Amino acid sequence: QEDVFKKVISHAKEYGYVFQSSEIYDGLSAVYDYGQNGAELKKNIREYWWQAMTQLHDNIVGIDAAIFMHPTTWKASGHVDAFNDPLIDNKDSKKRYRADVLVEDYVAKIEAKIDKEVSKAAKRFGADFDKEQFVATNGRVLGYQEKIDTILKRLGKSLENEDLADVKALIEELEIACPLSGSKNWTDVKQFNLMFGTKLGASADSAMDLYLRPETAQGIFVNFLNVQKTGRMKLPFGIAQTGKAFRNEIVARQFIFRMREFEQMEMQYFIKPGTQKEWYDAWKEKRLNWHLSLGMGQDNYRFHDHEKLAHYADAACDIEFKFPFGFKELEGIHSRTDFDLSSHEKYSGKKLQYFDPEENKSYVPYVLETSIGLDRMFLAVFSNSLQEEELDNGSTRTVLKLPAVLAPTKAAVLPLLKRDGLPELAQKLVDELKWDFKVAYDEKDAVGRRYRRQDANGTPFCITVDHQSLEDNTVTIRHRDSMEQERVPMDQVKGIISKAVDI
Ligand code: GAP
Repeated sequence: QEDVFKKVISHAKEYGYVFQSSEIYDGLSAVYDYGQNGAELKKNIREYWWQAMTQLHDNIVGIDAAIFMHPTTWKASGHVDAFNDPLIDNKDSKKRYRADVLVEDYVAKIEAKIDKEVSKAAKRFGADFDKEQFVATNGRVLGYQEKIDTILKRLGKSLENEDLADVKALIEELEIACPLSGSKNWTDVKQFNLMFGTKLGASADSAMDLYLRPETAQGIFVNFLNVQKTGRMKLPFGIAQTGKAFRNEIVARQFIFRMREFEQMEMQYFIKPGTQKEWYDAWKEKRLNWHLSLGMGQDNYRFHDHEKLAHYADAACDIEFKFPFGFKELEGIHSRTDFDLSSHEKYSGKKLQYFDPEENKSYVPYVLETSIGLDRMFLAVFSNSLQEEELDNGSTRTVLKLPAVLAPTKAAVLPLLKRDGLPELAQKLVDELKWDFKVAYDEKDAVGRRYRRQDANGTPFCITVDHQSLEDNTVTIRHRDSMEQERVPMDQVKGIISKAVDI
């Protein structure tokens, strides 16, 4: 698993997808830059989401709010008081951990024991092995599972009750039961606010303390009435937004999975109070279908219901994706009640209510939120697409099987040889196609090597121009995933590719 993840990171760098930020200065931890291909892939994911939200729903509109917001926003939203991570330091190694993540690491260790039991049994029983039945009935596995449940329940309860001493006690007990850090010398657990602060204004006395937004959602809440009135929106309706968010994450690892500067794609759906359960279920289904529409495998997704709810929610779940390091949160779906709008009413003194013409009264709407990290979606798509295939001739090829609609370059046009007018004809085709989608031209090296390069780059189609093309105006189209080639008239190329790559 670790090896697969390492390959993902190095492939992302080698093919211009993701670079460490400020690399020439040895980088900045948990901050990344997107290269020439990464920026395209990221833009395509953003557009795929944006269109699904604002084009396919006639009652959802998009906005683009500023990163800086009035500081009272974050008091009202609860972030100043409650957007904390519990931290613990190891006195021997001087390493700092997020206490809840540390507990999850212990849990992962126990999960690894379950995996070991399963693979041992699979070997023993061979073809007859029924994994589900084994996991549901094997005493040892059930014991481990029970242990995991108890640990997570206790963690959830102590965090909810702000019983940080118990979180520390839990870590100490786990360290004895299944050593991880090799040290028992811990500090107390302390809460640490994740917002980055900055200042607005030139002179020291007039400067105003600001925060970089830790979520894009608040820009939507404070604009709720502006959009509702100017767009003459009727409940239920949604406001969508994509944009940067910032969090001073302590656990800075796992590449672009957890970053300090990242991008969110959020949608707040304003609904009538009392209908939240119905909309929660509806949006869970809609969002899962959006993911499945990319064809990255149904088995790679699962829902995870939250037991511990954030301060604003009456129901919440994650859509988890199978990353190279296991199932982890990709998107959150939260029933946020009227918490945010009511709180902004209180702090601003301005009414944030909707006049319901059917009921002839005004009220604060409830909100259903869908929130996905663009970078995390990028990692899901990228890691799932990177594959190594054994070919019939015994060699292997590295291929990035990106969904065609998301691929940075849709087609590469390759003249078979660098002479006889083939480059000119190929260039003419590039000039025709580039108005409809992003194309590359490549004439360097043998055509087989060029195919491999485009495979590794994720380009879904290669169009080869050869001597026959000069005679009858046909070219070959090679399909990245099947490696099959077909000969088609040159004037049909645009139609064939557009059909495969259009949203
Ligand atoms: N407005 C609700 C909200 O912000 P969240 O669960 O804190 O909820 C939503 O974040 C999504 O944003 C997550 O599911 C994840 O995809 C992404 N996300 C959160 N923190 C992140 C980080 N440090 N780096 C990358 N993505 C992150």
